[in-house]
Amino acid sequence: MQEIASFRKIIYPGAFDPLTYGHEDLIVRATKLFDQVVVGVAAESSKQFTFSLDERVQIIREVVQDNPKVVVEPFNGLLVDFLKKKNIMCVLRGLRAVSDFEYEIQLASINRNLFSNMETVFMTPSEQFTYISSSLVKQIARLGGSTDKFVSPVVRKALQDKY
Ligand code: COA
Repeated sequence: MQEIASFRKIIYPGAFDPLTYGHEDLIVRATKLFDQVVVGVAAESSKQFTFSLDERVQIIREVVQDNPKVVVEPFNGLLVDFLKKKNIMCVLRGLRAVSDFEYEIQLASINRNLFSNMETVFMTPSEQFTYISSSLVKQIARLGGSTDKFVSPVVRKALQDKY
């Protein structure tokens, strides 16, 4: 019974540096399938972050504030430990293109090796968001281009303040 209940929640982990319309699209899609979507904001990454952990969390909280099914939480360390702490068995990842596939399969397999009870669910974003990435959005903002089509006004403002 407990297991069934916990399956209605899903963790969507990522760097979100910053959140894009592609991420938002996936969050909204997930809320149609799950009772609660926990956006897990990774404190650490192999990449250098542009936005601090607090900034990334604050931005996402502001964007999703009207959606009662979404909660935003930072996490440190391994994703599987975050899952166990939250008693959630399911992870959401987005697949935008074939190029995402290899890394995502690796991540899902490693995570399941570390925590055999978990599952990874893959969803695809709307076609118009398949080419968006946080790095490209930052590059556009840094070089003075318009990011209107890629990120919400909250993120746009944060990018303007940053650059
Ligand atoms: N729409 C648009 N862009 C998307 C997207 C979507 N739906 N999904 C991913 N992206 C982009 C991001 O913008 C980002 O672009 P960038 O590389 O240009 O910045 C890129 O794809 C990857 O983003 P994201 O998924 O947010 O970050 P990540 O791949 O770095 O996140 C973690 C990976 C955080 C989930 C993973 O590293 C993790 O679990 N870390 C914790 C430690 C751990 O347990 N590791 C695994 C076991 S070793």
